[in-house]
Amino acid sequence: MGTCALRDVAQFPVSEGLPVSNSAESTPKRPLRVAIVGAGPAGVYAADILTKSNEVKGGDFEVSIDLFEAYPAPYGLIRYGVAPDHPRIKGIVNALHKVLDRGDIRFLGNVTYGRDLKLHDFRAFYDAVIFSTGAIKDADLNVPGVELEGSFGGADFVSWYDGHPDVPRDWPLDAKEIAVIGNGNVALDVARMLVKHADELLSTEIPDNVYRGLKNSPVTDVHVFGRRGPAQVKFTPLELRELSHANDVDIVLYPEDFEFDEASDDAIRSNNQIKTMVNTMTNWLVEEHAEAEVPSSRRLHLHFLHSPVEIYDGAGNTAGTGKVAGIKFERMQLDGTGHVKGTGEFIDYPVQAVYRAIGYHGSPLDELEYNAKAGVIPNEGGRVLDAEGNPVPGIYATGWIKRGPVGLIGHTKGDALETIGCLLEDRLTLPPAQNPDPHAIIALLEERGVEYTTWEGWNRLDAHEAALGKAWTEAEAETGVVRERIKVVPREEMIRISRSSEG
Ligand SMILES: Cc1cc2nc3c(=O)[nH]c(=O)nc-3n(C[C@H](O)[C@H](O)[C@H](O)COP(=O)(O)OP(=O)(O)OC[C@H]3O[C@@H](n4cnc5c(N)ncnc54)[C@H](O)[C@@H]3O)c2cc1C
Ligand SMILES: NC(=O)c1ccc[n+]([C@@H]2O[C@H](COP(=O)([O-])OP(=O)(O)OC[C@H]3O[C@@H](n4cnc5c(N)ncnc54)[C@H](OP(=O)(O)O)[C@@H]3O)[C@@H](O)[C@H]2O)c1
Repeated sequence: MGTCALRDVAQFPVSEGLPVSNSAESTPKRPLRVAIVGAGPAGVYAADILTKSNEVKGGDFEVSIDLFEAYPAPYGLIRYGVAPDHPRIKGIVNALHKVLDRGDIRFLGNVTYGRDLKLHDFRAFYDAVIFSTGAIKDADLNVPGVELEGSFGGADFVSWYDGHPDVPRDWPLDAKEIAVIGNGNVALDVARMLVKHADELLSTEIPDNVYRGLKNSPVTDVHVFGRRGPAQVKFTPLELRELSHANDVDIVLYPEDFEFDEASDDAIRSNNQIKTMVNTMTNWLVEEHAEAEVPSSRRLHLHFLHSPVEIYDGAGNTAGTGKVAGIKFERMQLDGTGHVKGTGEFIDYPVQAVYRAIGYHGSPLDELEYNAKAGVIPNEGGRVLDAEGNPVPGIYATGWIKRGPVGLIGHTKGDALETIGCLLEDRLTLPPAQNPDPHAIIALLEERGVEYTTWEGWNRLDAHEAALGKAWTEAEAETGVVRERIKVVPREEMIRISRSSEG
């Protein structure tokens, strides 16, 4: 068993037969039934690649795909992760929309694997199942005080500002000084959303409760802390430069943080992104110290070589029900390899809120093995493995749940190519569905009272959100702000609108 090379769908060899379940002479031919669980980019790309593969296009069998999603809406973290002020992502959404709009992939939203449907249900109705369930949780930060009031997971805040249906509508934005831990793109998203003036976000699709919450925020200073140096950041040049576009926000850097070891020099020489970012930050440092400008009302501080030690309340306690009043870091130094070691010097910052943005983490899936450390389903090239490390026939994984929570939307295409390559390689040995009739799964969902949503339903909700944006734009014409969409947040409302002319 190895990984499967389906680098280019056009190169994949043409099929010679049907699924084994169909190959008996007396059995009429039927499509290969595949369920994909998770309609984020990884799931949609997997569905698209499967339908377009030469095995399917040039072969003598068809595929029939059902794409299941726990939310009533598709697109995963594109809808509930990507920051609202990133409109350039729209191009990707349009491309994914076109895939699902073709009509050869059936979307079934508001259906949760493990709750509404179990593995044996999928086994009964499909020849193969692909899990593309991504990651939605924060990775754990193991420092004392992380449970205090005012200590937040970045992923939770992201879910709030993106109008996730299952998180509370109110977010406590009462801190003037805030620490954000982490040096990845999520840390920059979180910091930017915290420090930006709300009116700058009004033209995005942020829900009204989010606009109101941010509008009332008393924040003056957001401090972003990386534990390594400026040449070891995980964020990317575009996202870094974006920070300087926020109105009335000064970027503050600290000369003592600009430490570079041999590995940093190598990285700057060999990696254009790192070179660009180090140059950008060094320029900001010089500009900031060269001339005193009119100070802005808010500041975004970028700190490096700070490793979090503890978060504490007003009495200095790290346990109990107190509220965050400060955070302690150990100052780090580079060790020559791009990693860091402690200096024994500690620094305190008075802050009233701490956001940890130190990475996402996957969640276990019912009846499947789980690698809790990496937050992934154990797999080889997308073939899901059992406890003994053997492939589970007919079960696959793709996207962040296959590979871990790293990488951009586009990277999930590569995951899907490999996973679909394996599935097609295994095609003749897949355990056949007991009931491949596509209507059977719908009957089961209805029998269980699952209020599933459909692609037509999503188009209705999509149009409804666009209409809300248009109505707002017309009603508030004097502001000159155009809102293309206002997201519907409560799950029940999403379902009601999606299913409004159904049954
Ligand atoms: C905060 C944040 C911002 C980002 N911004 C960008 C950006 O601007 N540009 C960029 O290129 N990349 C960005 N990324 C990265 C990008 O979002 C990921 O690369 C991509 O979404 C991973 O795709 P996925 O399909 O594996 O997972 P996801 O997008 O998480 O999709 C998984 C889907 O599976 C569903 N699911 C989970 N469990 C179940 C279940 N039990 N039953 C049914 N369905 C289930 C989920 O509801 C979800 O819809 C960002 C990531 C984060 C965290
Ligand atoms: N606009 C965009 O394109 C966009 C936006 C958001 C996310 N994304 C992508 O989504 C993926 C996930 O992003 P992410 O920011 O969640 O993860 P990430 O890129 O892995 O960054 C995690 C950051 O947290 C730090 N960290 C980890 N453990 C820590 C600890 N115990 N203490 C202090 N710091 C710690 C890491 O430092 P070390 O490096 O020292 O480990 C790193 O700086 C990335 O690939 C990202 O590019 C893209």
